[in-house]
Formats: sequence, C-alpha cells, structure tokens
Amino acid sequence: MENRVLEITGVKKVYDSLEVLEDISLYLKQGEIASLLGPSGCGKTTLFRMVAGLTKPDGGKIILKPGSRVGYVFQEPRLLPWKTVEENLVFVQQNYLGEEEARFIREELLTATGLLDFKDHYPAQLSGGMKQRLELIRALSIKPDLLLLDEPFKSVDTHLKIKLREMILNFWKEEGLSLFLITHDPEEAVLMADRIYLLSDKPGRVIKTLEFNKPQQQRTIKDEELYSALEEIINIFMELNGK
Ligand SMILES: Nc1ncnc2c1ncn2[C@@H]1O[C@H](COP(=O)(O)OP(=O)(O)O)[C@@H](O)[C@H]1O
Ligand SMILES: [Mg+2]
Repeated sequence: MENRVLEITGVKKVYDSLEVLEDISLYLKQGEIASLLGPSGCGKTTLFRMVAGLTKPDGGKIILKPGSRVGYVFQEPRLLPWKTVEENLVFVQQNYLGEEEARFIREELLTATGLLDFKDHYPAQLSGGMKQRLELIRALSIKPDLLLLDEPFKSVDTHLKIKLREMILNFWKEEGLSLFLITHDPEEAVLMADRIYLLSDKPGRVIKTLEFNKPQQQRTIKDEELYSALEEIINIFMELNGK
C-alpha cells in the first residue's frame, strides 16, 4: 500500500437519532494536501474530531500511520485566555516534546509569524490576525505529521487569508507534513489540494473525488484544469441544492 498517513474506511457517525456521516471512505498520503469540501452541517468537523480521537465513530475504521502526531486547528477559537502567547504553545508542546526542542521550535514559529515580541502578551491583547496566526502555530508547535485545518481562513480578510495560506504552504514545503483542509470555498480547495473529497448534505458521504498533480507554485485559478474543476464542483453543489 502507498505511504498513507490516514485511512478512513466506512466510517459512520450518529448523534442520538441524527445520522451525521454515512459510510465515509477516504485516505491521505504522506506529504500530500487533501481537502474536504461540503455544505454546512454535513459532518466535516465531526470527521476531524474522530481523526483527532476526540469522539468515536459508530462504525468503520480510522487508521493513522503508527506513531503519527496530529495537529488540529479548530474551527472555533481555542486559545487559553489566562495563558500568554508563549504559554499557550508550551501547554500543547509539553505532551510531546522535550524542553529544549520545544523551545527551539517555539522561537522559530514565533519569529516566522512576527509574534516573538508579543510572546508575553495574553490573547485578549492580540489583534484578530495575530490570534489566527497563534492558533495555527500552536498546532504546528508539536511537529505534527498530519495537520487538520478546519476552515482556517473563515472570517479573515482577503489580505490575511493570502498571508496565512502562504505561511501554511511554506511550513508544508519545509516540514513535509500532510495537510487535511476543511473548507466550503471551492476556489481555496482547488488552489491548495492534491485531492478534493466532495461531501453530500447530511448524512455526509463522499460524492466525488477530484485529483490534481499540478505543483503548488503553478496554481492559479486561470489555469484551465483548475478552472474547469472549479466549475464542476460548483455544478455538483448547485445540482444538490436544486434537488
Ligand atoms: N456533539 C454533538 N451532539 C449532537 N449533535 C452534534 C454534535 N456535534 C455536531 N452535531 C450535529 O452534527 C451535524 C454535523 O455537524 P458538523 O460536523 O459540525 O458539520 P460541519 O462541520 O460540516 O458544518 C450538525 O447537524 C450538528 O448539529
Ligand atoms: Mg464545521
């Protein structure tokens, strides 16, 4: 089997009597970027929570490559308000890394994101963009093999969105980690992902898988292949909504 960091087979999730996910099968190869695209409420976050081990599937299997570490950028803000910028990183790092390595990575990430001068500030003293960057580097600070990004660009302006995207792609290139990105923006998925899984409305299931192998630096929405994929995705969702 190819080098897979994540393999999900026939996963199902039910809350009380609400069937949220039905028979999800997908995989993510090491070093690749996959995207999960689907309507609001179809179970995307639920799937991530199961991958991170925060909740259990009611059927099927989720297999992570043995020894892989999962970083998670949550959909909602999760910074600890009573801890400083640096302490927020230490808090997650202490479960995984030795002190020296942890400090080295922290300084590297804080420097790369322009947050080093703010390391003793509290989240409430940061701008929205800084908080967003901190959420991102907190997940990166444990040196994850797989990074889960749940709508990381939601509610940020276009400028910051482009900056954050660049930053994530830089880490991805340098560290060789795998990225799994939830978005409901087809353009974002097409610009970033090697593989896109389209989910149906609740109960979520994979209705289409699209693959691209264009190198990141050559991706532009003006590219014919990407543009027609974008059209295809939009058409599928329009059809779904029209039903
Ligand atoms: N802990 C929970 N208990 C009960 N229902 C939940 C819980 N978490 C999510 N749900 C429901 O599951 C559905 C899918 O939620 P979610 O995974 O957050 O969707 P998405 O991220 O695709 O918008 C929603 O209808 C939501 O209300
Ligand atoms: Mg969600």
